Amino acid sequence: MKNLLRVEELCREPILDHISFTMDSGEMAAIMGPSGSGKSTLLYQVAGMDQPTGGKVYLGGKEITGLSEDERAAIRLQQIGFVFQQMNMMGNLNILDNILLPALEENRVSHSRSKKELQKEAEELMQKLSVAELGERSITQVSGGQLQRACICRSMINRPEILFADEPTGALNKSAAAEVMDAFVKLNHEGTTILMVTHDSKVASRCSRILYLLDGRICGELLLQKPGTGTQKQREETVNEWLGKMGW
Ligand SMILES: Nc1ncnc2c1ncn2[C@@H]1O[C@H](COP(=O)(O)OP(=O)(O)OP(=O)(O)O)[C@@H](O)[C@H]1O
Ligand SMILES: [Mg+2]
Repeated sequence: MKNLLRVEELCREPILDHISFTMDSGEMAAIMGPSGSGKSTLLYQVAGMDQPTGGKVYLGGKEITGLSEDERAAIRLQQIGFVFQQMNMMGNLNILDNILLPALEENRVSHSRSKKELQKEAEELMQKLSVAELGERSITQVSGGQLQRACICRSMINRPEILFADEPTGALNKSAAAEVMDAFVKLNHEGTTILMVTHDSKVASRCSRILYLLDGRICGELLLQKPGTGTQKQREETVNEWLGKMGW
């Protein structure tokens, strides 16, 4: 869908200053910029977690700004996936039950999928992101990279229209970060639209587009080839050169 996400003149005083951009279905974009430039704040407004002080956000053509807190909660549950740097899994549940949690919550409202169907769907997602063997483990019995991939499964379980991620690799070492990015690229190839914040140019270079935020404004944009095309080295060189021009 063209303009799956449309952000118009978005403001969150005093942090965000008239931000406008759109994303089409199937895009994978990164937001970069210095610490304190408003990246997380932007993501929270766009994902319906906070109420902006001005401007509009449309998801799938429907305005989500100006809705009540309950209506926004329903949209976050059913249409939006969110992945955090600090993974926020429930310590008293195993990995599989953590992944199923938003689906059970959603099912209480819609009754759309049986428990068995949900289980199967969770297992398929876990297989895809290479955490299939870990369902029974507690969250302390897996590595950081595995836990984050399980979090991505959780964020995908309600088949969101778009996935947001705030520094999803920020707490991970290089190889775990690369595996998490492999997972995002795989989901993107299958059609998932992804918008992530990152400080890591290597991570950003795997996206198809980068927006640069400075003092609450978008002040630059770089378009790259579709994720997975061109050599990774070339992609990183292009990104680093551009970041240099942006004053990174
Ligand atoms: N709840 C809040 N109330 C007031 N100010 C806030 C709040 N949250 C963030 N800020 C301020 O808003 C500005 C932008 O913060 P934000 O967290 O969006 O930046 P960021 O680009 O995500 O930074 P980082 O790269 O460090 O995560 C900062 O100056 C921050 O101190
Ligand atoms: Mg942040």
